[in-house]
Amino acid sequence: MSISIPRGTQDILPGDVELWQQIEQKARELCEKYQYQEIRTPIFEHTELFSRGVGDTTDIVQKEMYTFEDRGSRSLTLRPEGTAPVVRSFVEKKMFGYAKQPVKLYYMGPMFRYERPQAGRFRQFVQFGVEALGSNDPAIDAEVISLVMNLYKEMGLKKLKLIINSLGDKESRQAHRDALIQHFQPRIGEFCSDCQKRLEKNPLRILDCKVDRDHELMESAPSILDYLNEESKVYFEKVQKYLTMLDIPFEVDSNLVRGLDYYNHTTFEVMSDAEGFGAITTLCGGGRYNGLAEELGGPETPGIGFALSIERFIAALKAEGVDTNINEGIDCYLAALGEEAKDYTVGLLQKLRLAGFSAERDYLDRKFKGQFKAADRLNARYVAILGDDELKNNIINVKNMETGEQVEVALDSFIEYFQELQQ
Ligand code: HAM
Repeated sequence: MSISIPRGTQDILPGDVELWQQIEQKARELCEKYQYQEIRTPIFEHTELFSRGVGDTTDIVQKEMYTFEDRGSRSLTLRPEGTAPVVRSFVEKKMFGYAKQPVKLYYMGPMFRYERPQAGRFRQFVQFGVEALGSNDPAIDAEVISLVMNLYKEMGLKKLKLIINSLGDKESRQAHRDALIQHFQPRIGEFCSDCQKRLEKNPLRILDCKVDRDHELMESAPSILDYLNEESKVYFEKVQKYLTMLDIPFEVDSNLVRGLDYYNHTTFEVMSDAEGFGAITTLCGGGRYNGLAEELGGPETPGIGFALSIERFIAALKAEGVDTNINEGIDCYLAALGEEAKDYTVGLLQKLRLAGFSAERDYLDRKFKGQFKAADRLNARYVAILGDDELKNNIINVKNMETGEQVEVALDSFIEYFQELQQ
């Protein structure tokens, strides 16, 4: 019996992988421009990192983690997200002491959540994310948002909606929390058992409940924006001012509750507005998490970042009909006729590749016509044709596949000729 791929995971095959690589490359280039440097953390961490960092009452920690005991009886978890690991590393490696501040990092890699798979929702997905640690300047909130908006735009996405909110500082959140408890408590019996537990532990989570989302008390729930203290209000206004300066359109939505507990002040999501994108429209989520470093045993450090999944990025590109066909083709295909000529191309192919060209030859003993077909399929820009007679006479024919023009070249200066052609 054959073995199938686990639910919620996917193979990314040649033909599709090129688009992944292009997005990854664009992301790296942008990070270079914005001065974010790559960090690579382990795929698994101590479970406690996520229960403390992401939060005990979140869906991620309660229902979605791939947690296992290793042979030394330690509880480990496949990372469901990248922020807690990055901040763990920031604290552990004492990056707060680095001369270069703020510390601006990015990551790209697989994350794991035991969710019900559907279009755009996987159990293993790849996140690209950035984290800026050590700055309390609202301009860096705008910078982080502009980085992701530019990445989407440069890849050709147009139908995007940026939604922002502020959860305020500790004091504002406490005032809002009290108001939420007062609001829901009298009728908490009408809510699901999860929400009943959330009421005391983390009432903000109720607003994010998928079961009770249509309950009438949801709409009339107190808005965080009415509970922001002066400092938080000023901070949020500055973020908005900078976004406007950067020509980034946004909507403020006080109902934007992110699914992770570490947020305060700015939170945001980028949604796709494309028709036919499907039920899950969130492409990217992020926000500020001042206090997370402290929670993980480090000094008080402000932080902000975002993460997006490449899976949803690609789904949005397809929904918008952006041309995602990438077939770069190869520089040269070596077509050979006759035993000696075929043997000769083994060495010639190597020379072409070492000279910096992408090149291929036949490995299936195809007839001449079959070799030309193979060259076509590879989208070869040139085909170099060598027969036993040409080999004896030290010549090779080079055909430009676009114009059909064919030139006879001295075989021993073929590489130099090819180099000149490309200039
Ligand atoms: P998050 O909202 O949980 O935030 O995830 C961020 C993004 O990851 C989502 O917007 C979505 O694109 C993608 N994503 C999440 N779950 C799945 C899934 N099951 N399948 C496919 N894509 C998925 C975080 O992870 C935070 N760490 C973001 C952050 C960074 N906040 C501050 N810094």
